[in-house]
Amino acid sequence: MVIIKSQTEIRKIEAAGRIVAQVLQELKSFVRIGITTAEIDSFAEKKIRQQRAVPAFKGYRGYPASTCTSVNEQVVHGIPSPSVRLKSGDLISVDLGVILDGFYGDGAITLPVGEVDDETVRLIQITEESLYLGIKAAVVGGRVSDISSAIQRHVEANGFSVVRAFVGHGIGHYLHEDPQIPNFGKPGQGQRLQAGMTLAIEPMVNAGTHEVNLMDDGWTAVTADRSRSAHFEHTIVLTKNGPQILTKL
Ligand code: MF3
Ligand code: CO
Repeated sequence: MVIIKSQTEIRKIEAAGRIVAQVLQELKSFVRIGITTAEIDSFAEKKIRQQRAVPAFKGYRGYPASTCTSVNEQVVHGIPSPSVRLKSGDLISVDLGVILDGFYGDGAITLPVGEVDDETVRLIQITEESLYLGIKAAVVGGRVSDISSAIQRHVEANGFSVVRAFVGHGIGHYLHEDPQIPNFGKPGQGQRLQAGMTLAIEPMVNAGTHEVNLMDDGWTAVTADRSRSAHFEHTIVLTKNGPQILTKL
């Protein structure tokens, strides 16, 4: 069931989203050659708690950390670790959610580490562009799969693939609400988009096959062919004047 939010609720999701955006912004300068993903996680957790917010992922279905840090062929849900140290040429996606005053915000960015190859630069760029095209397609009166198809079209036109195994989602009172938002599909299908819907749109894009495998830790998803993967996410609200990003400064 889709929950339509009131103005008061939207303002609270926006406040949570602003903290997500702030911490992701700070991570852009914190992430560099030589640090570990565990250090990224504790930095992010400290920044979240400084804002009197709570990390939304920690303890979610038993997830052990405040962020997901997915390096190179890791697609999503990489668990931060003191033994994963970033080196020049890596790419890392950092995904984080917060709870503030009972409401959730969720966002992700992918960053290059040091000097990365041209394909990695393009992978990051196309994935971010596909997120913004998906957001642009989130118009009241349209359908959920209008978002999906806008994302898929851009990704595949540029020779990359969209992950099927994970999807975007409604968000607000809970981290994951209806509707699910696949990053692939034909337009004009699924739930009708209404004002007051709050959504987390999150394309995951692979350089090679769209297929993924789950690692033995039960969380980390990696590309089946071990090609690289990128991930961007924003929480948005649909209004009669168009989509508005809530995970922004
Ligand atoms: N942004 C992701 C999602 O919406 C990460 C949450 S997974 C968690 O699914 F388990 F780490 F919380
Ligand atoms: Co999400």
